[in-house]
Amino acid sequence: MGGVSTDTHTPDQVRRLVEVAELLAREAGALILDGRRRHVSVAATKSSAQDVVTAMDLASEALLRRRLAELRPDDGILGEEEGFQAGSSGVTWVVDPIDGTVNYLYGLPAYAVSVAAVVGPPEPATWTALAGCVHAPEDGRVFTAGRGLGARLEGRTLRVNPARPLIDSLLGTGFGYTATRRRSQARIVAELLPRVRDIRRVGSAALDLCTLAAGGLDLYYERGLQPWDMAAGALVAQEAGAQVTGLRGHPAQEAMTVAGPPGRVGELIGLLEALEADSDE
Ligand code: IPD
Ligand code: CA
Repeated sequence: MGGVSTDTHTPDQVRRLVEVAELLAREAGALILDGRRRHVSVAATKSSAQDVVTAMDLASEALLRRRLAELRPDDGILGEEEGFQAGSSGVTWVVDPIDGTVNYLYGLPAYAVSVAAVVGPPEPATWTALAGCVHAPEDGRVFTAGRGLGARLEGRTLRVNPARPLIDSLLGTGFGYTATRRRSQARIVAELLPRVRDIRRVGSAALDLCTLAAGGLDLYYERGLQPWDMAAGALVAQEAGAQVTGLRGHPAQEAMTVAGPPGRVGELIGLLEALEADSDE
């Protein structure tokens, strides 16, 4: 992803960004876990009536913005709920205050806070991710990655699974919130399901990408990911040895994100291109 030089950031500076990402993800994680023990209700809806925002999505993003203003006042912020605020340092924090909001609403544990630091225009096709943390507060997992420094889950270095034949591969994916998008996503799943070991739809793209990094999935693809869904998770996956890319020679972006070991991603890309999985037809 991206082509912007990171020469201005030494390994120590990248390490410091990882520390900030982890600190903030843990603080927001504690807030939303506490909120989950109380009352969770829908505060608003977005792209469809099923695309919900809880009061805790808003509170978590407010916490992340407040803490970044204290710790990194010159940096920009792009967040799922409050949008983009430019900075002057060249670094932008891309934050998802709760990834897996529907799981959060239903009391399912697969939700996470995602915090990443990127340089370059704050779009997945153009940025270079430097640091990221995905934290799942229900089970305490903390995934971190620094560009060139590897990916970790609580001190353990992560490595994607070796490339397996597609029929032996466990595939992760997710669905959008609009009926039109889902109709075409269902068509793609129907084509892929007979050709793979099985399919998982966990409900948090950030955790899908980190799960892939840890060997819990062999391959992952999804159409419709937003910058905050993938910023930290894609870096964790890449630093664990995954290729993270799009279709038709494009980088990973909203149209399509595909991830997996370099030796197997090409076959999935070929299938997805032939099925026109990057269109809503
Ligand atoms: C969603 C989750 C889900 C993915 C959707 C995302 P949200 O994010 O990551 O797994 O399939 O595309 O929108 O709405 O829970 O922050
Ligand atoms: Ca999200």
